[in-house]
Amino acid sequence: MHRPEPMAQFFNRVAQGYDQHVSEGQQTGGLDGKNILAQHLPAGARDVLDLGCGTGLELPAIFARCPQARVLGIDLAEDMLAILHKRCAGFDVQTLCMSYFDYDYPPERFDAVISVMSLHHFTPEQKLWLYQQAHSALKPGGVLLNCDYIIDSPLREKWNFARLRRMKAAPGSVHFDTPLCLKHEFKLLRQAGFPRAELLWQTKTTRLLSAIKQEQ
Ligand SMILES: C[S@@+](CC[C@H](N)C(=O)[O-])C[C@H]1O[C@@H](n2cnc3c(N)ncnc32)[C@H](O)[C@@H]1O
Repeated sequence: MHRPEPMAQFFNRVAQGYDQHVSEGQQTGGLDGKNILAQHLPAGARDVLDLGCGTGLELPAIFARCPQARVLGIDLAEDMLAILHKRCAGFDVQTLCMSYFDYDYPPERFDAVISVMSLHHFTPEQKLWLYQQAHSALKPGGVLLNCDYIIDSPLREKWNFARLRRMKAAPGSVHFDTPLCLKHEFKLLRQAGFPRAELLWQTKTTRLLSAIKQEQ
């Protein structure tokens, strides 16, 4: 059975062609999800955490909406980050080349935590932990925006994880898609402490979810 490639190795390998691949992407909605996500940021958002920022394709729209924003982007793949830094020269962006599972999330630091097309490789347990960290890192009233590959079928969800088990690969360590279904995503967001989650936009299986941390 074909063994998928380690995550960072995969994205470092495809980094040079990544932007073109996305802008031509019919299936994933190309740049639309990224641009629409930016429109749902509070206009006054200052501190923004981007999980899996890659080459930073989502950032120009974010700076257009929130010119005062300071973005912290986390990504495993240094070659993706090198492209981000060229794209965002002159903007207030810092990056950490590491896993967002190893980041020490500071409490109530960010106005928004965002992620675009990065979180569809993890188990429900891993995602619950990540959503809990995002919840704790948001200021009261802050927003989590996740634009990602999210499916409809719980059966398909189980089937993908079963395939990954047969390949004897640890979820999230390799580039293999294990998207969760929409209902499951909503449940995890509620469990993580968000009182309400909403589907803001979708095209095919690319969906934009928002969840707002309760004001105190
Ligand atoms: C499909 S790209 C998306 C990049 C960008 N957000 C976009 O929408 O164009 C997914 C990114 O997530 C990163 N990634 C995957 N797992 C990660 C992890 N555990 N920690 C940090 N980054 C991760 C990959 O390195 C890759 O750059």
